[in-house]
Order: sequence, then C-alpha cells, then structure tokens
Amino acid sequence: MSARNTDVSFGWVTRTLHWAMAFGVLAMLGFGSYIARMEVGMSNIWMFGVHKSIGIVLFALLAVRIVWHFVSPVPESLPSGVGWKDRAAVWVHRAFYVLLIVVPLSGWIGSGATGLDVLVFNRVTLPPLAPVSEAWEEAAFAVHFVATKLLALCVVLHIAGAVMRKDGTMARMVRGA
Ligand code: HEM
Repeated sequence: MSARNTDVSFGWVTRTLHWAMAFGVLAMLGFGSYIARMEVGMSNIWMFGVHKSIGIVLFALLAVRIVWHFVSPVPESLPSGVGWKDRAAVWVHRAFYVLLIVVPLSGWIGSGATGLDVLVFNRVTLPPLAPVSEAWEEAAFAVHFVATKLLALCVVLHIAGAVMRKDGTMARMVRGA
C-alpha cells in the first residue's frame, strides 16, 4: 500500500485526508446548523468550543492536503466522456478549496470579534483575527452562513457526481486503484 499517489492511483495519505475531511465537513455542517439555533448559555457553550476546535483541525488538514498535493500530485480525473460534467467536477473541486478556507477563516474572525478566546480543545489559544466589534462579528458570521450553504451544495453535487459514475472513480478513492 503506497503512501504516495501515482499517475493512476491515490496513495493512502491522500485517501485518508480525503475521507477524514469528508466526514468531518459533513458532521460540522450538521453540528454547526444545530448550535446556531441555540441560545448560548453556560450549559451549551462547550458545544461551540467543540465546533470551533474541529473547524480549526479541518482548516489545518486542508493546509496539510495542499502541501501533500505538491509533494505527491494527484492523478488526472477519469474523463466521463461528457464535457460539461467534467468541467462541473473541476469547478466543484476548486470551489471546495476556496470554501474550505473561507468557512473556517470566517468562523475564526467572527469568534475573535465576540471577544471570546478561540481555544482549540482547551489546549491552544489562537490569536483573534479581528477587533472585538459587533460589526466584524455580524459580517464574519454572515459570510460563514452563506459559505457553509455553498459548501453543502458542493457536497451534494460532489457526492451525486461520484455515486453516478460507474467507471472506477469511487473505487480509486476507496481502495486506491
Ligand atoms: C470546515 C469547518 C466548518 C464548518 C463546515 C462549519 C459549519 C458551520 C455551520 C453549518 C454553521 C451554522 C450556520 C447557520 O446556519 O447559521 C456554523 C456556525 C458557527 N460556526 Fe462554524 N463551521 C466550520 C468552522 C468553524 C470555525 C473554525 C469556527 C471558529 C473558530 C466556527 C464557529 C462557528 C460559530 C461560533 C457558529 C455559530 C454562529 C451563530 O451562532 O450564528 N466554525 N458553522
């Protein structure tokens, strides 16, 4: 089992990063929507802490993934034979990268603007990225809201595209080849 990608297969590092982020993002979309509807109080503030911590971990995993792409480039996508589908898949992949930067960054900015520390699993305190200000808080969380909805749309399109293909695309990301 190779760690590195080849011209035609995904190594275990890329596959592990892909599935860890896939499940993490799916869980966070649900969990985020759940906590956003709660009245924040002493009994549930820990849930916000968990959400922020996992979000920062996903942000860090994205950075690892980008570095790994340069260390070990991914194989070309298998052509589906339908031009617009291939172009759509490329744009959804690009949108994922943009949104997986914008979503955690806007959460981090918004959280810092509330004046509360952004603590990762009660261990590491991240510096605030914005002044304590209601305007910054509202703007950042408005971006977080819209970007998470766009991310959910990309997840749906990506899963639909992958599941509908019967050419081994899914097997490559599950088993490697
Ligand atoms: C990939 C990472 C992340 C995903 C998928 C995600 C997803 C979400 C979603 C779906 C919501 C609900 C939005 C709404 O319907 O109003 C939300 C809310 C929230 N997120 Fe994230 N999030 C991520 C990262 C972060 C990070 C890194 C932070 C802070 C450091 C953060 C802080 C928050 C907070 C405080 C809320 C509640 C906002 C409110 O009460 O209106 N998120 N998130």
